[in-house]
Amino acid sequence: SIASERYRTAYHFQPPKNWINDPNGPMYYNGIYHSFYQYNPHGSLWGDIVWGHAVSTDLVNWIILEPAIERDTPADINGCWTGSATILPGGQPIVIYTGGDAENHQVQNIMLPKNRSDPYLREWTKVGNNPVLQLVGPGFNSSQFRDPTTGWIGPDGLWRIAIGAEVNGYGAALLYKSEDFLNWTRVDHPLYSSNASAMWECPDFFAVLPGNNGGLDLSAAIPEGAKHVLKVSLDQCDKYMIGVYDLKRDAFSPDTVLDDRRLWLKIDYGNYYASKSFFDSKNSRRVIWGWTNESDSSSDDVAKGWAGIYAIPRAIWLDSDAKQLLQWPVDEIESLRGNEINHQGLELNKGDLFEIKGIDSTQADVEIDFELTSIDDADPFEPSWLLDAEKHCREADASIRGGIGPFGLVILASDNMEEHTVVHFRVYKSQQKYMILMCSDLRRSSLRPELYTPAYGGFFEFDLEKERKISLRTLIDRSAVESFGGGGRLYIIARVYPVALVDERTHMYAFNNGSTTVKVPQLKAWSMMTAQVNVKKG
Ligand code: FRU
Repeated sequence: SIASERYRTAYHFQPPKNWINDPNGPMYYNGIYHSFYQYNPHGSLWGDIVWGHAVSTDLVNWIILEPAIERDTPADINGCWTGSATILPGGQPIVIYTGGDAENHQVQNIMLPKNRSDPYLREWTKVGNNPVLQLVGPGFNSSQFRDPTTGWIGPDGLWRIAIGAEVNGYGAALLYKSEDFLNWTRVDHPLYSSNASAMWECPDFFAVLPGNNGGLDLSAAIPEGAKHVLKVSLDQCDKYMIGVYDLKRDAFSPDTVLDDRRLWLKIDYGNYYASKSFFDSKNSRRVIWGWTNESDSSSDDVAKGWAGIYAIPRAIWLDSDAKQLLQWPVDEIESLRGNEINHQGLELNKGDLFEIKGIDSTQADVEIDFELTSIDDADPFEPSWLLDAEKHCREADASIRGGIGPFGLVILASDNMEEHTVVHFRVYKSQQKYMILMCSDLRRSSLRPELYTPAYGGFFEFDLEKERKISLRTLIDRSAVESFGGGGRLYIIARVYPVALVDERTHMYAFNNGSTTVKVPQLKAWSMMTAQVNVKKG
């Protein structure tokens, strides 16, 4: 149908049809990026999961191949679930993934490329001794044991992986060791666990150097001063902790232990789950992929014939104060920038709305710098807001005038504004510092019924004494809206389905509804071309 095509993304990864969820085993190998994905070959709802497979040379244009593995052995007959790739010394790629076995237990399996000289690694072979890992014992639950990480080597030269589990009802990343990546034994303590939550899905574990955006390869020597990050998926979002990997205890230990998981930092504050990162040896960076589900009803997904996209792959690194991760869309995405518009020296006074014209407002990349003319009128910050930023975004929405802000972008707006999505900032003064609220408010994004239209949001610290400019970059891609605030300090991806998009009539505005005037020294925007993401070849 027309709606199905209008809402299909033009440059966010999705296969030609059917359901996808978690990204699996991302890797860069012999000049090619591989993206595997949880895929239902039979329809647009979750089920019958196999590993879809796509390859790329630039992380933007993709060739969709046949699935890499299907459910055809007793160890994965009920699903080939999430897993990771590791490149062993000598260049041998190896994948460990979760299988749903004949008794519906979750077990771990290994597969290898059949022919390493095939540049696309099209065919994969499962090893004979699958499953290589099962979970039995008191306190364990064999139906909560999944999603192995990429491997890393410890000081004893042995491989390690972590696996998501629930132990005595609590979330854990179980730790395993192996000499050959095939025979594994469980270490008697987890890599990390916490009684602040239940089951952890899709753990991701990686090393980062504060203030250094050149990524680190986990299976190489980790330099002095490096920190480790443990990401886990729960509560419909991806949360992470920064800490150290204590070699003596062979365990992760967070710099700050937060007993209330609502305070854990998020990889993305919107619709984003099951992310997985990999070291990109081509560009010496860590890249993270995450899944963004639809926000419409299952019957809409069935009617569209597809469901699920991936956020733009992002470079991810640690801020110089080691307090939070920064992220930025990979530079390669800029190759899709077409027609450009450029404004300088705009001034947005209280109540101003400035229409951004001359580009395709349904497929765009927008970069704006908002410069505060004064920081005197910032409203006071209330720490309890950190527990529920979404509530704050609903209560202090774009229509509520503040001292500084709301200011930001109105996008995918219909002629009469009956439909519109707002991405905006508010500035608050805390004890010593400034806290910035960023929201992506979908509540009026569409007139269609049965959509999930929250106001997503999060807070970040920003040194306004030093820097008066707060930047916003928003990637608009039909039903996907992906925003990066404060130079990559806060990120929100969301899905919207405006009726106006079906008629290809949408508008975009910069606005300020705060009392303090905000300057826009620079506003650049580009129409975005369609990537080759939907093309089936080879
Ligand atoms: C996360 C998840 C994983 C599991 C996979 C199954 O979205 O539930 O824990 O391996 O999806 O498709």
